[in-house]
Amino acid sequence: MAKTKPISLTFFLLSVFFCATFAAPTPSQSLYTSFLQCLKQNNTDPTISNIVFPQTNPSFSTVLQNYIRNARFNTSSTPKPLIIVTPKNPSQVQSTVICAKNVKIQIKIRSGGHDYEGISYVNHSPFIILDMFNLRTINVDIKNEVAYIQAGSTLGEVYYRIYEKSKVHGFPAGVCPTVGVGGHISGGGYGTMLRKFGLSVDNVIDAEIVDVKGRLLNRKSMGEDLFWAIRGGGGASFGVVLSYTIKLVPVPATVTVFRIEKTLDEGATDLVVQWQQVAPTTDDRIFMRLLLQPITSKVAKGTKTIRASVVAMFLGGADEVVEILGKEFPLLGLKKQDCIELSWINAVIWYNDADAFTSGAKPESLLDRNVNSASPGKRKSDYVQKPISKEALELIWKKMIELGKVGFVFNPYGGKMAKIPADATPFPHRTDLFKVQFSVNWKDPSPNATLGFLEQAKTLYSFMTPYVSKNPRSAYINYRDLDIGINSFGKNSYQEGQVYGAKYFNNNFDRLVKIKTAVDPDNFFRNEQSIPVHP
Ligand SMILES: Cc1cc2nc3c(=O)[nH]c(=O)nc-3n(C[C@H](O)[C@H](O)[C@H](O)COP(=O)(O)OP(=O)(O)OC[C@H]3O[C@@H](n4cnc5c(N)ncnc54)[C@H](O)[C@@H]3O)c2cc1C
Ligand SMILES: *[C@@H]1O[C@H](CO)[C@@H](O)[C@H](O)[C@H]1NC(C)=O
Ligand SMILES: *[C@@H]1O[C@H](CO)[C@@H](O)[C@H](O)[C@H]1NC(C)=O
Ligand SMILES: *[C@@H]1O[C@H](CO)[C@@H](O)[C@H](O)[C@H]1NC(C)=O
Repeated sequence: MAKTKPISLTFFLLSVFFCATFAAPTPSQSLYTSFLQCLKQNNTDPTISNIVFPQTNPSFSTVLQNYIRNARFNTSSTPKPLIIVTPKNPSQVQSTVICAKNVKIQIKIRSGGHDYEGISYVNHSPFIILDMFNLRTINVDIKNEVAYIQAGSTLGEVYYRIYEKSKVHGFPAGVCPTVGVGGHISGGGYGTMLRKFGLSVDNVIDAEIVDVKGRLLNRKSMGEDLFWAIRGGGGASFGVVLSYTIKLVPVPATVTVFRIEKTLDEGATDLVVQWQQVAPTTDDRIFMRLLLQPITSKVAKGTKTIRASVVAMFLGGADEVVEILGKEFPLLGLKKQDCIELSWINAVIWYNDADAFTSGAKPESLLDRNVNSASPGKRKSDYVQKPISKEALELIWKKMIELGKVGFVFNPYGGKMAKIPADATPFPHRTDLFKVQFSVNWKDPSPNATLGFLEQAKTLYSFMTPYVSKNPRSAYINYRDLDIGINSFGKNSYQEGQVYGAKYFNNNFDRLVKIKTAVDPDNFFRNEQSIPVHP
C-alpha cells in the first residue's frame, strides 16, 4: 500500500477556502483546482495552466484520443483521466510530478501510447495522464555518432533525423514509426537490426529522468543501478524518462529487403522447419521475420490454410544474400528478382509498409504521427528455446485454422543477442531461438466480439504451452499482456509482482525490486504491472 504524505498546509487552507466560498465542488473539480494551484506556485512559467486539460476542456477528448493506438481502449466505457498534462519542457514535468504527489493522485505516463493494454492512458481509479508528446527534441551528432532523443519523439522521427545528417548511420529499434521512444526503450526495443546490433537498450549511453522527488537526473547523478533499470525494466516504475542518449550504428549505403510467401500446399511447413534452423544462426546481418496467418485457401474452395511469409532485411547487397541463403535456406528459393536493393531509410519505410514504399512514400512520411489503424487488437508473447517439430507445427496449424483469426510473428534471435549476458540489462531473453508474438486485430468493437477474440488468443496461448519456454514461461514486457498477471490497483503487492516479474525479467526481477525500493519506496510510480516495492 502506498504511504501517503500529509497534504501541505497551503493546499489544505486553499481547499477549505474554496469549499467555504462556493457550492460544493465535485471531487474532480477540487482536485483540478488544487493541482493547478500547486503548478502555478511551483513553476514560475506564467503559461503553465495552458498545459493542463481537465475533462471540461473542449480539447480534452482530442488530446486523449490523439495517442490512443488501440481501439479496444477508445470506447465510452473506457475509464478516463481527470486531467491530462502536456509538459513542454523538463521543469513542467518536474512540477507535474511534485504536484500530483502533493494532491495525492496517481499519474500514468504516456509517450507514444502504443502500450498493447493501453495502460499508459487507462486506469481503474482516479488518475491524470502525463503526456510527453511535446517533448520531442532530437539532436543528432554525426561526428561523435550519438543522438539525444527526448521521450516524446517517435521512432520514425529518430530514423528521419539521423537520415537527414547521414545515409550510412541508423539505430536498432522498432519497426512501427509511430511507437514512442519513452515506452519503447524503457522496455528493451528491438527491430530489424537486433541480430547485428542487439536491442535499443544495448545502444543507450545516457538518459535523463525526473525522479519521485521531482529531481532531474542524468546517468551520473542517478547512478548505475537506476540507469540499468531504465534500460529494459519497463516504463513507469522508476520515474519519468525525459530523454535517452543513443549510440548510432553504421549501416551500408545499400541494403536488401524481400518477402516470400508459401501456403501449406506450397510447402509452408517444411519452410518453417528450415526457418527455425537458419534464421537464428545465419549471418547476423540477416533478419528474417516469419509471419503465420490462417487465410482462405485458393486451392481448395471453402477451406482454410496457413500462409507463412518470410519478411527480411539484409545489411548488404542482393547478390550476397541470395548466395548465403541459397546455401543455407534452399527451401526459401530466394532469387535476385525477389529482392529490392534500397537505402536504409527506404528499407525502414518498406519494412513497416511495403505498399507505401511501392507507391513512392518519401522519408518525410516517417514524421507522420497519425498513420495507425484504429482497429481493436490483442498481443501476447512467448520465447522458443528448441525448434518446434514438424508434427507439432501441423497440430498448431490445425488449431490456428480452427480458431480462425489469431496469427503469429516469429522474430529470430542469435547473433549479437546471444553474446550479451542475460544480466547486462533487465531484458533477460538473450539465448532463445526466437520470440513469438500472438497477434489478432478485428473490426467489430462490440464487447461480445472483443471477448471472443481475447478468448481465441488465450486458447492458442494455452495450446502452445508444450512448445515454449517454461519455469518461467517468458514474455516480452513491450508486448504488454495483462493475462499473465496483474497487480491489483492500490495493492501492488510483491507477491503479485513476482508472477509477471519472473516472466518478463527472469532472474533480473530481484535486482529491479531492490532498485525500485531504493528510488521510489512509497510506490508513487506504479501501474498494473510495475515493479513492486519489497515489503
Ligand atoms: C503498432 C505497434 C508496433 C510495434 N512494434 C514494435 C517493434 O517493432 N519492436 C518492439 O520492441 N516493440 C514494438 N511494439 C511495442 C512497443 O515497443 C511498446 O508498446 C512500447 O512500450 C510503446 O512505447 P510508447 O511510448 O509508444 O507507449 P506508451 O503507451 O506511451 O508507454 C508504454 C509504457 O511505458 C510507460 N512510459 C511511456 N513513456 C514513459 C516515459 N517517458 N517515462 C517512463 N515511462 C514511460 C507507460 O506508462 C507505459 O507503461 C509495437 C507496438 C505497436 C502498437
Ligand atoms: C517546487 O517544488 C520542489 C519540491 O518541493 C521545490 O524543491 C522547488 O523549489 C519548488 N519550485 C518553486 C518554484 O517553488
Ligand atoms: C477513437 O475515437 C475517435 C472518435 O470517436 C476517432 O476519431 C479515433 O480515430 C479513434 N482512435 C482509435 C485508435 O480508435
Ligand atoms: C457473440 O460472439 C460469438 C462469437 O464469439 C457469436 O457466435 C455470437 O453470435 C455473438 N453474440 C451476439 C449477441 O452478438
